[in-house]
Amino acid sequence: MKVIVDFDRIHGKRDPMIYGHFIEHFHRQVYEGIFDPGNKLSDKDGFRTDVIEALKKIKTPILRWPGGCFVSSYDWKNGVGKNRPAVFDKAWRVEEPNTFGTDEFIAFCKKVGCEPYICTNAGTGTAEEMSDWVEYCNLIDQGIHAKHRIENGNTEPFDVAYWSIGNENYGSWEIGAKSALEWGRLVNESAKMMLRVDPNLELSAAALNDLDWNIELLKQSGERLKWISIHEYWDKLAQENDLADYEQTMVFTNYLDDQVQIVRGLLQAMKLDGKIRISYDEWNLRGWHHPNVHTVEQGKNPESYLAPRDLNDDNSQYTMADAVFSACFLNMCLKNCDIIGMANFAPVVNTRGCIFTHKDGLVLRSTYFVFELFANQLEEIVLDALIKNELQMDVISKKGKTETVSTIDVVATRDENNNASLAIVNKDPQKSHSVEVVFRGGTIPRQYQLFSVIGDSPDAYNDVDHTGVGIKESSLEQYSEAKGITVPPHSVNIIKFYK
Ligand code: AHR
Repeated sequence: MKVIVDFDRIHGKRDPMIYGHFIEHFHRQVYEGIFDPGNKLSDKDGFRTDVIEALKKIKTPILRWPGGCFVSSYDWKNGVGKNRPAVFDKAWRVEEPNTFGTDEFIAFCKKVGCEPYICTNAGTGTAEEMSDWVEYCNLIDQGIHAKHRIENGNTEPFDVAYWSIGNENYGSWEIGAKSALEWGRLVNESAKMMLRVDPNLELSAAALNDLDWNIELLKQSGERLKWISIHEYWDKLAQENDLADYEQTMVFTNYLDDQVQIVRGLLQAMKLDGKIRISYDEWNLRGWHHPNVHTVEQGKNPESYLAPRDLNDDNSQYTMADAVFSACFLNMCLKNCDIIGMANFAPVVNTRGCIFTHKDGLVLRSTYFVFELFANQLEEIVLDALIKNELQMDVISKKGKTETVSTIDVVATRDENNNASLAIVNKDPQKSHSVEVVFRGGTIPRQYQLFSVIGDSPDAYNDVDHTGVGIKESSLEQYSEAKGITVPPHSVNIIKFYK
């Protein structure tokens, strides 16, 4: 197989926010995840310092919070100030202590060094409540909400630039679900009030690959939005925790950009492409397991709807399948960098996240290493690489259907000085493959170095007392066009070239 890289054939410049993350008030993501007061690893504010360091190491650019379904009945005012009432969270049927709220979220983002991204309650919430939240965060000292922030000890505004109006309000499972017509009107009125508070906001709104929903949304509020938000979990596990195996997971890599192309076409038809970008602000191969709560018939006892949530914490579920899939998803974002400006791994800590916390430390799950390589080793200019003699393989889906997928997934990047860095994903569960890389239009590199996320099998994983996945760095090798670069089976590879 050959990859021809022309330094002058440019897709665009990737926005680093495609390496973003998401955290929700669900199970152990916030409490015992990023916020664990009393733990020996937490700082004076109760934040897990080991989690902060791990998020810094993957250059976390932005963090979306507080939900997700949780937000659609969340009253942000319960999470600020001295009086923090514990309330019943009707989204997830648990008590929310409200000890982690807006001020804590902003403080956490400052420690990580990432942008805060707040998703508002457009389920039971109103345009006034959403814009009041913007007042609390972004006004200097005018009005009751900014003054309340000052009373709470934060004299300087938080300057939160990124806001999403609502979360999946199209879904029957969502509290306060809306029709397309209702949604367009609520988003427009909310955006109007939020922008009256701070005209510099980067506003998004919940959307999906449904033309009626999006046409109504964009007709009514398109002129006020900078982003349109879409979500996907390919291996849907809410009711049954029956994870796709390695081969079945590879089938999903045929369907990575389905939503993106539909939304792209709609934005073009409405002449909004170039003005509105896509925020893929929830994505993960693995859907979260939370049975009997998104259903009409609710679980009647904790064993049927609460206890099963612990199954998300089984670290052996997160294998090279997750790493290979996640790398292919990020490659898709890079190849569509003209329209995808943000993506948020859902979630980043615990549940199906790439970081698992326990009382004595962390487990870095396989996808963590993909972020570590992509965020640190790939460059910002994305090139349009040409693939010749593409390798393919037949795999069998979860439904028993045989599908053909490309075996090798490639994205080429460079910096302003034509220093190239390629991501080459080998989906083959058994075989290594040799990839010839040919450069056009720039100085031919002399050497290269291979950084690989590898595991000893397709089902390799990490756990508290088990290390099966990590990053292997090769020494500097002499580069020659004729000599292929060998990538191991079921691996994610970054090849950095040096002139
Ligand atoms: O499974 C978790 C949920 O997935 C999130 O809360 C929601 O945004 C999405 O439906």
